[in-house]
This record gives sequence, structure tokens and C-alpha cells, in this order.
Amino acid sequence: MDRSLAHKHLHVVTGKGGTGKTSVAAALALALAADGRTTLLCEVEGRQGIAQVFDTAPLPYTETQIASAPGGGRVFALAVDPKEALRDYLQLFYRLGPAMGMLDRVGAVDFVTTIAPGLRDVLLTGKVYEATGARRKGRQRYDAVIVDAVPTGRVGRFLNVNAEVSGLARVGPVHKQADSIMRLLRSEATAVHLVTLLEEMPVQESIDAIAELHALGLPVGAVAVNRVRNSPLSQVDLRAAATGKMKADQISQGLAAAGLDHPSHPVAATATALINEAAELSERITLQQAQRQRLEETGQPLIDLPEVQAPGTVAAVHELAETIRAGLR
Ligand SMILES: Nc1ncnc2c1ncn2[C@@H]1O[C@H](COP(=O)(O)OP(=O)(O)O)[C@@H](O)[C@H]1O
Ligand SMILES: [Mg+2]
Repeated sequence: MDRSLAHKHLHVVTGKGGTGKTSVAAALALALAADGRTTLLCEVEGRQGIAQVFDTAPLPYTETQIASAPGGGRVFALAVDPKEALRDYLQLFYRLGPAMGMLDRVGAVDFVTTIAPGLRDVLLTGKVYEATGARRKGRQRYDAVIVDAVPTGRVGRFLNVNAEVSGLARVGPVHKQADSIMRLLRSEATAVHLVTLLEEMPVQESIDAIAELHALGLPVGAVAVNRVRNSPLSQVDLRAAATGKMKADQISQGLAAAGLDHPSHPVAATATALINEAAELSERITLQQAQRQRLEETGQPLIDLPEVQAPGTVAAVHELAETIRAGLR
């Protein structure tokens, strides 16, 4: 990763669903907490994905320490809840926090938090903005805030919603807040990262999202290429596999020499199976290289992240964090 990316204050992580958005956001929060720093990892989709990747109980709406980083760093986590964010919002702008109960009874809370997606995004981004600390007197301040954000298809609208609010509310505190949020999101302090796999669909979505973010004036950071597997075969072998030039008799001899000949698994059959597998691997790697080429053409920095041994464990998050950290150095 570009060194300057290590010093952003707000990191927004997006990606096609299932590519590893939550895992990468968690690993980034851990990587940025190294050397005694404190970071906050926020989720905004109510899925308790962070609790899952850290293998802990569901997160409360309050900021809670969820992990420790090497060198005394701390990672806090927060599941942003739209209803709680609405309460904060009403309190902040209208001193109306206590009116929530009444609003709830007339259905207004459901309307704002679930039915009107734009309003919901206003609440969620408002809470994230608050966590970045412009007004945090006497509360925990963070060296970096990392958001496990909405998927690529919705990220432009999500991040730009306050530009619309600012246009609707021309004056007053709501206008001011919306402007402040947009100023932060468009500033050098922010980076929007993408997570992808080297497959056609997620790569296409990443490329589309990069173009959309650029058009909105939002700063694009790195592209995390997740689940990269190193080939067990050399370039020469891969080419031989692709062009049908692997030598079955040579492979059979090697298998026999290794004592792998057995009446139920004759070496000739094993050699054929290996050659077919090598051809498939070669094809897959060629396709992946084409996808990587497309990502390189975007001009954004790419960070390769390995396929981890034990996905869904704290160890896996640490492993990914180490790779990210090495990239930061
Ligand atoms: N680098 C990786 N290696 C192996 N498995 C991974 C890796 N990254 C993510 N996964 C697995 O892929 C699945 C989706 O990851 P997750 O972070 O929840 O993605 P998203 O938030 O994009 O839906 C999970 O089961 C996770 O453990
Ligand atoms: Mg997720």
C-alpha cells in the first residue's frame, strides 16, 4: 500500500458482497492500530459481520474494544444502528432525543430507518462522521476510523447522500453538518478502498465503482485483491500444461521413483489426472492475470492478500493485517 494511505484518518472499505469486505476492513483496522495506535472499526449494515470475523459476541451500539494490535495498539468496534443514530441526530439538532418513543409509535422511526434508504444513509454516515472526532470532547479519539461500508453497487449513493441533503437544506445546522461530512469525505484525510477477487464480476464492479467515485469527487484508495493463491507450478510448467506439452512418461517415472505406484493407483492414471489438473490451473491463472491487468489499468495501488489457512478466526484477521502492514512499510 502507498505509504500516504497509512496516514488517512477515514478508511471506507467497499466491494462486491462476499469478496471479503468485512475481513479486509477488520484486518486494516488491526494493521493501522499497530505501534500503540487506536482505531475504530464501524459496520453499517446490521449484519454483525465484525463480531463474526473476530469470533466474538454481537457488538453493542457503543464503542467496544475488540482486539489488541502488536505494540500496544487497540481496535475498537461499533455496529452503527440506524435507530440509535436517529436518536443521536434528533438530540443533536433538535434536542428531541426523548421524543423517539412517540415517533416510534406513529411509525416515523421505521420510515426513516428502513423505508427511506437515503435518510438511513444520512444517519449512518452522520454517525461515522461523529466517530472521526470533530466534536468528541472527553470521549475516545481514534487515530483512524475504518468503515466496513455498503457494497460497491450502492457505495456512491451512500457516500454522496450528504451532498443531496446539503442541497435540500440550504441553511441551518442540518445543512452545515451535511457540508462538513462531504468536506471530510472528499478530503485528503479519506480513502475509499475496494476489495475484489480476481474474477470477472467483482473486478467489473470495482472498475465501475472507481469510475463512479472519481466522478463524485471522492478519493479512491487501494484495491485489495483478496484470496490470492500462489501457483505451485512455475511459469514454464504452466505454459507446458496449457499447451498440452507436459510429459506423461516423465511424470510417471517421477511418481514411481517417489514410491507412488500402487495397483489401485497406477502411475500412468495419476500422471494423466495431474496433467489435467495442471491444465485447469493454468487456465485459471491466465484468466486471473487478465483480470489483474484490468485492475492495474485503473492506476490505483493494488494490495495482494493471501488465501488464509483458517478463515473466520482471529488468527486469520491477524494474518491479513500482517500482509497489509508489510505493504504499509
Ligand atoms: N483471504 C481470505 N482467505 C480465505 N477466506 C477468506 C478470505 N477473506 C475472506 N474469506 C472468507 O470469505 C467469506 C466472506 O468474507 P467476508 O469478509 O464476510 O466478506 P463480505 O464482507 O464481503 O461479505 C468468509 O467466509 C471469510 O471467512
Ligand atoms: Mg460483510
